[in-house]
This record gives sequence, C-alpha cells and structure tokens, in this order.
Amino acid sequence: MTARLIDGKAIAAQIDEAVGHAVGALASAHGTAPCLAVVLVGEDPASQIYVRNKVRRTQATGMRSLEFRLPASVSQEVLEAQVRTLSLDPDIDGILVQLPLPDGLNSNAVIACIDPDKDVDGLTEISAGRLVLGKPGLVSCTPTGCVILAKETLGSLSGAHVVVIGRSILVGKPAALLFLAQDCTVTLAHSRTRDLAAMCKTADILVPAVGRPEMVRGDWIKPGATVIDVGINRIANIAKGPDATRIVGDVAFDEAIQVASAITPAPGGVGPMTIACLLTNNVKAACSRRRWDLPVGFDF
Ligand code: GUN
Repeated sequence: MTARLIDGKAIAAQIDEAVGHAVGALASAHGTAPCLAVVLVGEDPASQIYVRNKVRRTQATGMRSLEFRLPASVSQEVLEAQVRTLSLDPDIDGILVQLPLPDGLNSNAVIACIDPDKDVDGLTEISAGRLVLGKPGLVSCTPTGCVILAKETLGSLSGAHVVVIGRSILVGKPAALLFLAQDCTVTLAHSRTRDLAAMCKTADILVPAVGRPEMVRGDWIKPGATVIDVGINRIANIAKGPDATRIVGDVAFDEAIQVASAITPAPGGVGPMTIACLLTNNVKAACSRRRWDLPVGFDF
C-alpha cells in the first residue's frame, strides 16, 4: 500500500481564499476589516519565520495586521502591560503572543492578560473552559487544522479511535477535546504511556504532536490508518552538505507511507493549516466582538 497524501497546503489555500472573501464582505458592510495583533519577543529564528508568515498571510486576506516586537530582555511587567493595552484597544480583534517566550518570562501570566474574546490561539482559561464545556469560543489553531484535515480525508469521524501523542496546552489537550466533539474515542498518549508503539497501532487516526523527529515508525501504525503528523522538526541533511538542514515530522514518513492509507507530509501538511485556522479565528473574533453577522457560508 502507498498512502494518499493529505495536501494541507492546498486545503489551507482554499481556507485562506474563503477568509479573503469574508474579509472583503465585512469591510464593505462595515467600513473596516478585522485586525490581528501579533506579539513577538526575542530573536528566536523559527518564531521569526512563523510570525513573518502569519503577518504575510493575514495581510493577503485583506485583514489589518499589527506586529509588536519586543527584545528578549523585556521585563514581565512591560510585556504584560503591552498585552493588556492590546486587549483594551477596541480596534484590535485578535491577539497572538508567539510562543515559546524567552527564558525568564512567565507565559501563563502573559496569556492571562489576553482578552478571551480576542484569544485567537484559544489559550486563556476562559477559552479552555468553553472548549471543555462544548460552548462556542476560540479554539487553538493547530488542533482545529488537524480535525479539518481528518474530516477532509475521512468524512465523518464518528466512532474512530484517535490516538493523540503529546499533552501540550497548545496542541495535544485541545486536539483530544476536538476529536471527542466529533464523536471519536480518544486516547491522549504521552511520554509516560506504556508501550506507546502498541497503543499507536490501535489508532484509526494517529496524531503525533511531540516534536521528536521521526519517532513514530512504520510498524507503530495500523494498516489503513490515517496519520496527521503535527511535528515540524529541523534536522541535519548530511547528503546536502555539512550545514544543510531539512524538515521532518514526528513520523518516519518513508516507512509510514507503506502502511497508512492517508498521511500528511511535513512540510506541507498540518503547518499551513495552523495559519489558515488563525485567520478564521480572527474573522470569528471580529464578528463576535463587533456584533457583525458572520458572512454567509463562513462555517469553519
Ligand atoms: N508557537 C508555535 N505554534 C504556535 C501557535 O500556534 N501559537 C503561538 N502563540 N505560538 C506558537
């Protein structure tokens, strides 16, 4: 068997286009476009690339994009004050504080300064509570993207056994809740799970989100399973030279493709979906805060 590739880049491009249409409709109806504020602290190269892409794709939809860059030496107080100012600014609809923050800064305390109605990352206590209770709210972008990709691949997910590996606040925990809301049976596995390989092999849908390059081997995968690989890991590419690197997922792709029926590539799978879902969240946040009707057909 050779698995079908799940083209996250193409699906994300369709969502970006739908967001663009929605933003155009909102701007003509209300005279202003939704606005996203992104806060980047320090010089982490990967975070700089992520933020650049977020800003570029936000602007491409016609939304307004504001970027706030602070040095790694910024104090906790100044950073919190900056986020509180954005929360109070009536012209800003969404706030994203790029994580991880540099050492010494308390990200929980910073997240607590985000107005939950602008929490496009779904990280505040209010957003997490709404997700647990099944109430409408803003949900973390990467897990939302995983569920969209699984539904695009399989249609109904009802009754499927999903194994999520990794219990992070940003991905693993919300992914488990989102798949549960799709009537899946969910196992949330992690570094202490006994016989992780055997557990993974029971999954109809496997969602590794651990950040360990190629940890999931082909023989961990149930034949015919769907694999949604959240990992984006940069490793040495010795064949291309001493300084060359390449991106791999948490799954050993060349092995998995022989066993699974469908799989996301890395890059080009889950990664582009994260930003697409950030954009949909910002439209939802704007409509909810400003009491605008969501444009017809905007059902992400
Ligand atoms: N760092 C890596 N992914 C994300 C994300 O989705 N949101 C934020 N805020 N930081 C990240």
